[in-house]
Amino acid sequence: MARRKLIAGNWKMNGLRADGTALAADVAKRLKAVGQARYDMLVCPPFTLVPLVLDAVKGSGVDVGGQDCHMQMKGAHTGDTSAAMLKDLGCSHVIVGHSERRTNHGETDGIVKAKAEAALAAGLVAIVCIGETLEERDAGKTLEINRRQLLGSLPDGANAANTVVAYEPVWAIGTGRTATPEQAQEVHAMIRAELVGKLGQEIADGLRVLYGGSMNPKNAKELLALPDIDGGLIGGAALKADDFFAVAEGSPA
Ligand code: PGA
Repeated sequence: MARRKLIAGNWKMNGLRADGTALAADVAKRLKAVGQARYDMLVCPPFTLVPLVLDAVKGSGVDVGGQDCHMQMKGAHTGDTSAAMLKDLGCSHVIVGHSERRTNHGETDGIVKAKAEAALAAGLVAIVCIGETLEERDAGKTLEINRRQLLGSLPDGANAANTVVAYEPVWAIGTGRTATPEQAQEVHAMIRAELVGKLGQEIADGLRVLYGGSMNPKNAKELLALPDIDGGLIGGAALKADDFFAVAEGSPA
């Protein structure tokens, strides 16, 4: 089954109003110029820029998402943002369980799952991130770790329309070191097989699994051509419209 590629930019904690708005407007203009793109495009700016970015991309087909959400919809959670708040602004997606959240904020699979379920309850698509560290890879535990994170983090009620999985090897994030096509495909194939077991063939066939970790214009084409890679979650290269588009245009025809 053909899955439409999803090219998602994760801006992380980058961008002030002027440059963030300019980047969003540039991305919007380019997507419009492409016309009928063969991929979906999403940008996930920091919370502070979400309304400005939504404005800047209006009518272009570029979707906007958050980088994290709380597991509750409201309440006494100083500094947090709920999925309902993102939905209320006009976001369509939210990233949950990024390795920087897992590492810097102690997010466990259980927390990530609860966040993903909050996203679904709010009507957002959850982009659930998983990935092994270099230590885990070197210890031969890559498949085991990713399987555990996947099964522990997938929201109940996941389907192809409300959930996306992103495989991001931690050692490849922001390092300029990308997984080889063989390394990526091995994990993506395992993810697909686990999705079949958990959600059934039909849902698993439609559910998109992204690769992330130093994806750039040089390596995107090869990665995006692999049978189980359905797009990219792009950090550094998403901060330059040229690079972001070069990655997107690497999607197979
Ligand atoms: P990177 O980040 O492309 O800069 O490696 C990807 C990510 O962390 O989502």
